[in-house]
Amino acid sequence: MTTNNSIYILAIESSCDDTGVAILHNDKVLSNVVANQEIHSQYGGVVPELASRAHQQHIVPVIDQALKLAKIDKKQLNAIAFTMGPGLMGSLLVGSSFAKSMALALGIPLLGVNHMQAHILAHFIKDDDQQKPLFPFLCLTISGGHTQIVKVIDFFSMKVIGETLDDAVGEAFDKSAKLLGLDYPGGPLVDKYAQLGDPNAFDFPEPKTKNPLDFSFSGLKTSILYFIQKQVKKNPSFIAENLNDICASIQSTITSILIKKLVAAAKQTGISHIAIAGGVSANSEIRKVLMEAEEKYDWKTYIPKFEYTTDNAAMIGIVAYYKFLDQQFEDLSVSAQARMKF
Ligand code: KG4
Ligand code: ZN
Repeated sequence: MTTNNSIYILAIESSCDDTGVAILHNDKVLSNVVANQEIHSQYGGVVPELASRAHQQHIVPVIDQALKLAKIDKKQLNAIAFTMGPGLMGSLLVGSSFAKSMALALGIPLLGVNHMQAHILAHFIKDDDQQKPLFPFLCLTISGGHTQIVKVIDFFSMKVIGETLDDAVGEAFDKSAKLLGLDYPGGPLVDKYAQLGDPNAFDFPEPKTKNPLDFSFSGLKTSILYFIQKQVKKNPSFIAENLNDICASIQSTITSILIKKLVAAAKQTGISHIAIAGGVSANSEIRKVLMEAEEKYDWKTYIPKFEYTTDNAAMIGIVAYYKFLDQQFEDLSVSAQARMKF
């Protein structure tokens, strides 16, 4: 590892529908700007073509704003980092092409980052109120595209020990929300309505999987669909009259599935340091249950700050920092990868 102890990195995240740029000084975040793309809500999901066009519109102003907020001139930067994958190819290409040109123009190194690794390593962003996890730990990585239990051995050694066989948790939230007539992304809305509802009002089934650490959410989605159709036939105002209870019941079923898998993973690996990461880790019920699990299962749990749960560039920057220390640079021929493993 290099002994350089003052490293400024500009990181770009553009894997899906949020354009993020962050500036880090070593492991500390100086600025973290995210431009959301409202355009997708009317389509009930991300439209890839529109996403890449919006990234092109946002990237220059977001970079300018991040530099301004960090009070950094681009000449002070030591490296440029970008999300290499996994993600939507058209979106990834905007960030990767911009990062390459910027690194070339400034004559500084380029760092490519795996988006899922970044969700996990967001826990290592320096913060006075947050403790960094100790290795090895388990991380439940839950987002709109992924659901994994990852055994994190160190910064660059991670093993997926359980994952979804069909839909991701975020999709389960978003698709359930769509059935209820809620806008995209529906996860935060289900969370909001659930706060006022009864989690035991309705029963939804928890799926069984061959590998006890794997997940499956497609059956849950179908059972919610049939349930809603049946109830609406009897009472056309069923959704409006029971929205809070339906959301609370869906949320509590999903949370129960997740926690049971984590308990099984902790048992199987003997690891009791447990973290959550990814957009769905913003969910209030999941956070609450994980906090309670500290005492219940004698775990040490790590819950990320809200701003580092959904897609952001600070998490790309922290991986880039550790890659910089380890001299893991990319050359300019590197390309974005829609599918990318650890
Ligand atoms: O990590 P992320 O921002 O993007 C991906 O990499 O996919 O995750 C987005 C997902 C969406 O499915 C969104 O509905 C979900 O995270 N999400 C939530 C909450 N906030 C975001 N799901 C449940 N409760 C929330 N509070
Ligand atoms: Zn993500």
